[in-house]
Amino acid sequence: MDSGRLLLKGGMVHMDDGSCRTADILIEDGRIATIADNLTAYGSARLFDLGGLHVFCGLADVHVHLREPGFSYKETIASGTRAAAHGGFTTICSMPNLDPVPDSMENLAVQQNIIARDAVIKVMPYASITHGRKGYGDVVDIERLSPYAAGFSDDGCGVKDRTVMKQAMQTAARCGAVIAAHCEDESLVNGGCIHDGDYARRNNLRGICSESEWRQVERDIALAEECGCRYHVCHVSTAESVELIRRAKARGVDVTCETAPHYLLLCDDDLQDDGRFKMNPPLRSARDREALVAGIMDGTIDMIATDHAPHSAAEKSRGLEGSAFGIVGLETSFPLLYTEFVRSGRMSMERLMELMCYAPRRRFSLGGGMREGMAADIAVFDLDREYAIRSDEFLSAGRATPFEGRKVFGRCMLTISEGETAYCDATLLNTETK
Ligand code: DOR
Repeated sequence: MDSGRLLLKGGMVHMDDGSCRTADILIEDGRIATIADNLTAYGSARLFDLGGLHVFCGLADVHVHLREPGFSYKETIASGTRAAAHGGFTTICSMPNLDPVPDSMENLAVQQNIIARDAVIKVMPYASITHGRKGYGDVVDIERLSPYAAGFSDDGCGVKDRTVMKQAMQTAARCGAVIAAHCEDESLVNGGCIHDGDYARRNNLRGICSESEWRQVERDIALAEECGCRYHVCHVSTAESVELIRRAKARGVDVTCETAPHYLLLCDDDLQDDGRFKMNPPLRSARDREALVAGIMDGTIDMIATDHAPHSAAEKSRGLEGSAFGIVGLETSFPLLYTEFVRSGRMSMERLMELMCYAPRRRFSLGGGMREGMAADIAVFDLDREYAIRSDEFLSAGRATPFEGRKVFGRCMLTISEGETAYCDATLLNTETK
């Protein structure tokens, strides 16, 4: 635990309005006390010399699987939040495919107690939409759970029953809660393991068609429009979904959506028969990838989420057909997107921060910002450091990434959550002076 004051000297500070200047940041009592030039380390302040490093508001990820309670052999709240801090995240929302499912105050409290004990950054859990996350039957007590949940999601599965989704949206609309939907019509999935495209045909594998996603996006947008509910589409992967959301936004429907770095950087041409390439929704076609990039550029896609979904080595060792769905992403998201889009000149740093920090914070009411008086949630990156992604350097218990060995720029050096050091690179530790 840090105590007293913390002084970050000489970093290139990226402010909320996108402006950027060299400044010092004084942190007191977990808050950003002062951002100014030439602050001196008086009294007991600890000091980090950040000369040349870039200082951002901490990243936020609204789609993370922390696996605890219930599946701590895959990940724990301790290892998952350390991995998040290692990726520059200070605020994440945890998905409810857990045991017990957070479908009541009592079950949600099981997870909240572990968070209070073990999390090194802020975690806001989702509650499920339906009891037992079954996708049909009874809707949870949204009104009661709403103040304690990031939103409501049955992530891992689609909500099968239209009437149930409508009921959830009507109550969510009354209490201002976000419904975050994993859109998947199971009747169209056909036991598939990858996208129903060229690779599947060539290799005689069962495919998951795009329609299994966009049919439910279409259904839910119509319901959200009717109910006036705040609706968010999880892990958008198809061109059709992007177009449906674009049109809904133009009509004024209160819909937002996320996609993940792997859908922007990879497609089914990149597949290998290896569990590291298997996730749900699957990597789609090159045409879908291009549509997602267009959606990121024109603002149809509001935010990036990782869908960090760790599994054990054994569960990921059975190729495309036999492995579990899900890859890790917290420790690679920022460097991948910074390298692909910002460093290459295709996107501004400001837009990337909107996608990875400000948009998720606003939509899910997560707070934060790079200004005096805000909680000291800060990520420091060395944007000029080039390195190869190595899963054996991850702090996550999960290791399955399709980006193994890929060269990227942008290394997280320091992450501060509410004034406490959540991650610190060894080289930076050596610059710390008292
Ligand atoms: O690939 C996935 N993994 N997609 C999901 O929807 C669930 C997730 C998991 O929990 O493993």
